[in-house]
Amino acid sequence: MIVFGIETSCDETAAAVVVDGKKILSSIVSSQVTVHHPYGGVVPELASREHVEAIVPVVNEALTAAGIDKKGLDAVAVTRGPGLVGALLVGFNFARAFAFTMDIPWIGIDHLEGHINSVFLESDPPPFPFVALLASGGHTSIYHVTSHTGYALMGQTRDDAAGEAFDKVAKMLGLGYPGGIIIDRLAGKGNPQNISFPRPFMDKSTFDFSFSGLKTAVRRYIQDHRNDFRRQIPDIVAGFQEAVVDVLSNKIIRAAKEKECNHIAMVGGVAANKRLREKIMREASRDGLTVHIPSVELCGDNAAMIAAVGYHYLKKGIASDLGDDVYSRIKR
Ligand code: KG4
Ligand code: ZN
Repeated sequence: MIVFGIETSCDETAAAVVVDGKKILSSIVSSQVTVHHPYGGVVPELASREHVEAIVPVVNEALTAAGIDKKGLDAVAVTRGPGLVGALLVGFNFARAFAFTMDIPWIGIDHLEGHINSVFLESDPPPFPFVALLASGGHTSIYHVTSHTGYALMGQTRDDAAGEAFDKVAKMLGLGYPGGIIIDRLAGKGNPQNISFPRPFMDKSTFDFSFSGLKTAVRRYIQDHRNDFRRQIPDIVAGFQEAVVDVLSNKIIRAAKEKECNHIAMVGGVAANKRLREKIMREASRDGLTVHIPSVELCGDNAAMIAAVGYHYLKKGIASDLGDDVYSRIKR
């Protein structure tokens, strides 16, 4: 089954062609980073307008790169939520109209379910059941995953998401947007032992997270070192990153042990973080656990992961009807 995926939940316009939920024929991602950069974050109204401009060229590019005519598509899968409503509506309505005119089935997909399934687009996917850490700009959660479409939430952030903390700390230090990748690079030049930041909730039995206190600790450090924090920036970001990495790796490994799973998946934009990838791999292998992390391109938002989930629903005969709508907040 050849599924066409479309994703427009935030600041990336993406389209992809995926065969049987695992083989990517094309995956095009058009980023709006330069548009939002001057504002230090995503401006929802601008995001919607950019999606309107980009959707047709991105769709055409995905079809051309896959070497396929639109008549060769079996179905369409599109992100339904959570995300920015104005942004979601662009891809959602495009997909719905596209499926209607082509007279093929279509399905609205949960963005988080897409991220969880991104590991199945790689050559070495985990066997079920496994535990998944989803760390992105909007969400930080741990799931017990029992099938492509079945998972139970074990814990989630009570305030900021991990990616959001990276972005806010970068903004505080005047490093620009998006902060994750900037901090990732800069932290390599600092020493994580020089400045120690708190590891919120690390020793608590809960699988929930909290990152806002850590963000505040960084802010306080900057205020207390008003005159010389600039030359300490590599150490500040290295110390901050190490605290996030410690909490994330500690909790996901503990979750794997609790559920007696030998396999861990780590997905979402923050899973691209070099230090996090290194640390989780090392700690997990010490406990005999195998970690599955998608390539950096598949960690960030993309439409291939949406097409992958779509395939598993459509295979079961589940599709959306034309009256469906988007949603902005996480679904339970
Ligand atoms: O999954 P994603 O592309 O979009 C959402 O669904 O939110 O995640 C974006 C988030 C941003 O907060 C970004 O700063 C963070 O992922 N991110 C990173 C890295 N690359 C992206 N955080 C840490 N290290 C990175 N290398
Ligand atoms: Zn995402």
